[in-house]
Amino acid sequence: MKKPWAGRFTEGTAASVEDFTESVSFDWRLWSYDIQGSIAHTRMLAHQGIITKSEANTIISGLKEIQKEIEEGRFRWKKELEDVHMNIEVALIEKIGPVGGKLHTARSRNDQIALDIRLYLRDVTKQIIRDIKKFQRRLLRIAEREAETIMPGYTHLQRAQPVVLGHHMLAYVEMLRRDCERYEDCYKRIDTLPLGACALAGTTLPTDRSYLARLLKFKRICENSMDAVSDRDFIIEFLSVSSIFMMHMSRLAEELILWSTEEFSFVELPDAYTTGSSIMPQKKNPDVVELIRGKTGRVYGSLFSLLTLMKALPMTYNRDMQEDKIPLFDTVDTIQAVLGIMTEMMPRVKFNRKRMQSVARAGYSLATDLAEYLVQKGIPFRQAHEITGQIVRYAIEQSKELEELSLDELRRFSPEIDNNIYEVLDVAQSVKRRRSRGGTAPEEVKKQIKRLRSRL
Ligand code: ARG
Repeated sequence: MKKPWAGRFTEGTAASVEDFTESVSFDWRLWSYDIQGSIAHTRMLAHQGIITKSEANTIISGLKEIQKEIEEGRFRWKKELEDVHMNIEVALIEKIGPVGGKLHTARSRNDQIALDIRLYLRDVTKQIIRDIKKFQRRLLRIAEREAETIMPGYTHLQRAQPVVLGHHMLAYVEMLRRDCERYEDCYKRIDTLPLGACALAGTTLPTDRSYLARLLKFKRICENSMDAVSDRDFIIEFLSVSSIFMMHMSRLAEELILWSTEEFSFVELPDAYTTGSSIMPQKKNPDVVELIRGKTGRVYGSLFSLLTLMKALPMTYNRDMQEDKIPLFDTVDTIQAVLGIMTEMMPRVKFNRKRMQSVARAGYSLATDLAEYLVQKGIPFRQAHEITGQIVRYAIEQSKELEELSLDELRRFSPEIDNNIYEVLDVAQSVKRRRSRGGTAPEEVKKQIKRLRSRL
């Protein structure tokens, strides 16, 4: 098959080279953006008198026919035609004749591919933001339901202080809120028009890029034609934001894995979202969440692929850049799948409230409360810390929890301790009293939920 660029060549492309250089096997999925861009480009050419109105109409109806063929699965993609752009352009010329050859006036595949990816990423980014918000709403519902469920809070994965489960869930809602902000910010730079840069240097023909920007609803225009065709920062940003997002999902996944162990027994994952073992009949494995943790590595890998791909490229377009799409598409597919499955699964996770509360009570998690009690009696915090530490050591030796020590025993360490200490040494009281802004008191957690709801 004759290539659109065959003019200066004396022999055909080697079959191995066609296989090696083609991108249509993966960039075909940009077809609708490619056609959208071509239609706008054609309108601009006619608007500027570079082609006639009737030529433009012929080209546009040809493109729309091709669009229909692709939609209905009747279009045959040809590897010999390299990429999505040449496949569509050659099909257009076959369909409408030589006038189809006017479409590529004042355009290059270099600005064309940059445009297609930006159009695609605009849609994808908006969709991801919507999906994250949907997931946040599910988490908020869980947080509301579990606003009084007491569980141990950890630092260093050592029991630290009791918190409520709703508070724990809201921590993830906050992470996701930052993710949305980052995607929104990244969107601003995606939403910049590269079309009209042509191969790299602009054109001698009287084009109008502002007109193109209006037709394609771009907020901004890439102001330097060389930068326009060589910039992939917006993909790298998208992958960075996605990596951070996946890191958050991976942390949540890790907690669910941990919590579903016999040792923790904090949650039971729904049967429909777990799998069995081919040898051990008793097993119920958290494969879904493990895969979320695992896929995080793949997304980081994509970010590093792109950073490495771009790091030594001289200006401007280089064919290396064709390698940007596989990691990008893979990341988009991964993010959408992870969001979908987590949004479905989370509301169905069963929390073992009794178990969480009983673990929260054990292990001297109220020692800070005791120290703060002494502070309220006027004892400097450092001294209160020391006294409480001695009480804990004594309790460990006696194999008792703090609330199991008698008033006499407690007063041996500080005469300031009264009978009302037993109200302090109670997990429910402990969380209720942590009313500082952003703290774990159910009352405060409900305020946080309200604030987050109104933002969503
Ligand atoms: N398939 C190419 C890519 O994805 C499109 C641009 C090709 N440009 C070129 N001069 N060969 O980057």
